[in-house]
Amino acid sequence: MASITITDVSKTYPGAPAPSVTGINLSIRDGEFIVLVGPSGCGKSTLLRMVAGLEDISGGEVRIGDRVVNRLDPADRDIAMVFQNYALYPHMTVRENMAYGLKNRRTPKAEIETRVAEAARMLELGPYLDRKPRALSGGQRQRVAMGRAVVRQPSAFLFDEPLSNLDAKLRVTMRGEIRRLQKRLGTTALYVTHDQLEAMTLADRLVVLNGGRIEQVGAPLDIYHRPASTFVASFIGSPAMNLLDAGLEGARLRLGTSVIELGHLPAARGAVTLGIRAEDLTPAATGLPFRPDFIEELGAQRLVHGHIEGQPVVLALDPAVPVGSEMRLSVAAARLHLFDTTSGRRIATAARPGLAVTETA
Ligand SMILES: Nc1ncnc2c1ncn2[C@@H]1O[C@H](COP(=O)(O)OP(=O)(O)O)[C@@H](O)[C@H]1O
Ligand SMILES: [Mg+2]
Repeated sequence: MASITITDVSKTYPGAPAPSVTGINLSIRDGEFIVLVGPSGCGKSTLLRMVAGLEDISGGEVRIGDRVVNRLDPADRDIAMVFQNYALYPHMTVRENMAYGLKNRRTPKAEIETRVAEAARMLELGPYLDRKPRALSGGQRQRVAMGRAVVRQPSAFLFDEPLSNLDAKLRVTMRGEIRRLQKRLGTTALYVTHDQLEAMTLADRLVVLNGGRIEQVGAPLDIYHRPASTFVASFIGSPAMNLLDAGLEGARLRLGTSVIELGHLPAARGAVTLGIRAEDLTPAATGLPFRPDFIEELGAQRLVHGHIEGQPVVLALDPAVPVGSEMRLSVAAARLHLFDTTSGRRIATAARPGLAVTETA
């Protein structure tokens, strides 16, 4: 088990006009589960592969434990990787697949047997040890890939979208299994996914990447409740946070003909982007005018799509709440997010919690 320290790391692929990853600083604690999340092409795999030793590091330093590993071969980094295409050897049985890496390292036979048996027990693969991969389901194959990593007893697990090939239901099950296994073994994990829900549910801390840079690092709920930018606000959470054009006039926020009293003076003025989560808008006698367009019924919740002052907005309501053709919505000041319209960065607010705020001028 080990910490992983990434210092000012960058990567420019040969011949590429710009770096794919730049200025990455990240300290991963021993035993921590870190998820790198962001849209396709933001540099997640590149960063992971530099930690693994599968890509050269163009600048900066990667440490695993107290060793700088920049120039070490993948095999000498004491890490185990699990990929999306689990790449099992088709001609080998489950047992042989799991034992293969240890055999190559000349681990004593008895030790291999003990470790494979232990991993098979943890992953409930006991009944399948003598089968070939083609006789396994997708979920079982994914578990064998996990088993292959587990038997290595590495300092860290590196995962690159390991669940992407599975159907939705199996992804949820395997997500739980990976999390449980990692906690039980206490092995540091660095996990890459583009799926924000997978990221939220797995991570001790999330690292949100955008265009090769870190946008925000934090515990999933801290990021959900205090996104550092409009990028994070719209990427983390489903439905995405509502983002509206608004104007700051001192402590008043103008939204078309509506005015929201903030109850404090924010550190900005003029045009801003107002962020409101779908569940933070509640039907009220007075407040922001909302025109519903259509409803998505999700069972436990309904999503009501419509407009406030001509701008698209989604509400998440309890299905028992009636939806009229015109509604008024209120929101607590503490639940409002303000962002700089140009940079997209969060504007510091000091809203007093619980203050009720909306009025229509
Ligand atoms: N081998 C490569 N050669 C050149 N460019 C690459 C290579 N691999 C990835 N890239 C580029 O680097 C950027 C980040 O890619 P990647 O790390 O694979 O993103 P992600 O895993 O987040 O989808 C992309 O613009 C991609 O096109
Ligand atoms: Mg990738």
